[in-house]
Amino acid sequence: MSHAVIELSEISYAFPGRGETLKGLTFHLHPGEKLGLFGPNGAGKSTMLHILMGLLTPDKGEVTLFGAPMSDAKAFEAARLKIGFLFQHSDDQLFCPTVLDDVAFGPLNQGLSREEASERAREALETVGLAGFEDRVPHRLSGGEKKLVALATILSMRPEILVLDEPTTGLSPEAKDRLVDILKKLDMARLVVSHDPDFLAATTDRLLAMRDGRVQPGELKPHSHVHVHEEGDVPHQH
Ligand SMILES: Nc1ncnc2c1ncn2[C@@H]1O[C@H](COP(=O)(O)OP(=O)(O)OP(=O)(O)O)[C@@H](O)[C@H]1O
Ligand SMILES: [Mg+2]
Repeated sequence: MSHAVIELSEISYAFPGRGETLKGLTFHLHPGEKLGLFGPNGAGKSTMLHILMGLLTPDKGEVTLFGAPMSDAKAFEAARLKIGFLFQHSDDQLFCPTVLDDVAFGPLNQGLSREEASERAREALETVGLAGFEDRVPHRLSGGEKKLVALATILSMRPEILVLDEPTTGLSPEAKDRLVDILKKLDMARLVVSHDPDFLAATTDRLLAMRDGRVQPGELKPHSHVHVHEEGDVPHQH
């Protein structure tokens, strides 16, 4: 079996003054694997992702990315260039004066020229349906627009793996469908955290649940939902 691209081993973490959020959590993502993770609010999903990205330091346990132990900040910096990480809160992701700057930031950081990075950024904006947004001010965008720009900041990096924390929050049904199409066309290994069972079913192959501070095999209960389409006024099930 090939080496895991993400390996979390026996990770424990407590926020200062609070009990343990993660309790000996072990997790692997192998090349090509598409995993979905769900679990109650406050279960520790985002905390786990922040630890795997090196944004929080675990109290116990090891993080290994692309086969390399993440022993210091420098190791994380190198690994982060290959991971498309979507923050749950887009305001944590967007910090430049213009949308184009934000989306070109990743490729510039990867060593591309300004021209190449801008080209990549324009392509990524077009992919998420935001062509024409290049000169807009990120912090003035709507919640859904911010999420789409944040997604573009990841796509422009052409990462080796995707780690997405609640990618559909605030997205309209049309934008969500577009995101499903985008993800279906991408082959790379991914970990998707979401409360949306339909989205997880459409974009991942196997489900895990965050429970009792650990990642465990997950199973979603079969469900149906009712919604109203703009085109028609008859609620229906599918
Ligand atoms: N900086 C912080 N300081 C103290 N407690 C925190 C901090 N960040 C998160 N927490 C707490 O840690 C727990 C885990 O939070 P986390 O954001 O990882 O949950 P989550 O599973 O991602 O939830 P959600 O589904 O709502 O996004 C929660 O109880 C949260 O209130
Ligand atoms: Mg979260």
